[in-house]
Amino acid sequence: MHSFRYHQGQLFAENVALQSLAEKHGTPLYVYSKSTITGHYTRLDAALAKLDHLICFAVKANSNIAVLNTIAKLGGGFDIVSAGELFRVIKAGGDPAKCTFAGVGKTRDEIEYALKQGIYCFNAESEAELHYINQVAGELGVLAPVAVRVNPNVDAHTHAKITTGKSENKFGIDFDQILDVYARVAADCPNLIIKGLQMHIGSQLTNVDPFLEAVQKVIPLVTQVKRSYGIEFFSIGGGIGINYKQSLDSGNVNWWQEHAEVHPLTIQAYADAVVPHLEPLGLRILCEPGRFMVGNAGVMLTKVLYEKRGSAKIFKIVDAGMNDLIRPTLYEGWHQIVPLKQPANATVEKVDVVGPICESGDFLAQNRELPLVKEGEYLAVLSAGAYGFTMASNYNTRPMPAEILVDGDKATVVRERQTLEDILKGEHLA
Ligand code: LLP
Repeated sequence: MHSFRYHQGQLFAENVALQSLAEKHGTPLYVYSKSTITGHYTRLDAALAKLDHLICFAVKANSNIAVLNTIAKLGGGFDIVSAGELFRVIKAGGDPAKCTFAGVGKTRDEIEYALKQGIYCFNAESEAELHYINQVAGELGVLAPVAVRVNPNVDAHTHAKITTGKSENKFGIDFDQILDVYARVAADCPNLIIKGLQMHIGSQLTNVDPFLEAVQKVIPLVTQVKRSYGIEFFSIGGGIGINYKQSLDSGNVNWWQEHAEVHPLTIQAYADAVVPHLEPLGLRILCEPGRFMVGNAGVMLTKVLYEKRGSAKIFKIVDAGMNDLIRPTLYEGWHQIVPLKQPANATVEKVDVVGPICESGDFLAQNRELPLVKEGEYLAVLSAGAYGFTMASNYNTRPMPAEILVDGDKATVVRERQTLEDILKGEHLA
């Protein structure tokens, strides 16, 4: 579900023509639709209505403070993985008491900062970390709320780089060791309050089965931990996949229809599968969606700079590179690419859409059928709202793109394009 569509020959985000934004603010440019984010939050919230639940948005997916503010106003909490993300949440008006702090390598500074801000819970990923949080809390004279992340050893059937719930992944504590860890922590760590249990098996899951398998496998453990330590929550993690190949309502010309897929995982199917198992637990259920909330709510706009017709391929050289959107090259991520100007006919040609970075891996799409687009025209890379801007870098000393949030017919610059001076800030001659 999203709010991007062609209207009078132009691609719109809600009521704003994207061409006007590209011309006014330049490219590469990230544009987010507020109503899409709100729609996703509301649907997930409704699907979990039977449970005492808290939606903790995974900030790593999109950390712009205007996006975080949108979610905070809806009542959402946040799943953070660094002091920096907590700092952003607070700047955005989010409530630290609704924040869970995940990640395998929390530093002393981060633990201290999170304790002082009063976060809801640390999701600890090793016994050593639990001892360290206990030590830091003791030194500060406070009690630290903790949950332990279990690695359920369930295959999420997703890309290898975003699978987290197998024993060979660095995340969480082995299923078989969990009860012993809780027992030792309860005995040895007087500065910890044992608050919950957490799991997360991977990202971009497009089938409900691995979720169900993990929930069913972990529930007996949750029951036992609840009985022994009186925990208050169970977090089922994030990972709900989105449809990167959905069709766009485009009127008569729909050349990408052949790519469109019916998405196997709907939010209702997800909830229908897991909620009946979670309800009897009588615990607060946390859910940590990132991509589901913002993925299809964002596009990246880019301009065609040059065309090169080689002997093997046609290259469309655009002004956005792998530094602006790394998913295609890092995860073989497939993003729909469409012209901002609605194509007049269904003619397509097979092209590579490549960026200006000096690497062969710098592409946004390979062997892709695109309508005929000329130099100077704009393209939109769809479903770029999650892990797009947040994974962007200054590689090749390229400024970070600007970000815009559209709300109805209003478009706000929610992050200015970086200047060259910004990039060099803090750098000195020896
Ligand atoms: N909770 C934990 C503990 C996580 O590690 C993650 C994501 C999430 C929640 C949110 O997962 P989501 O609902 O977004 O699937 N950069 C990759 C994705 C990395 C995901 C890392 N962890 C990509 O672009 O596909």
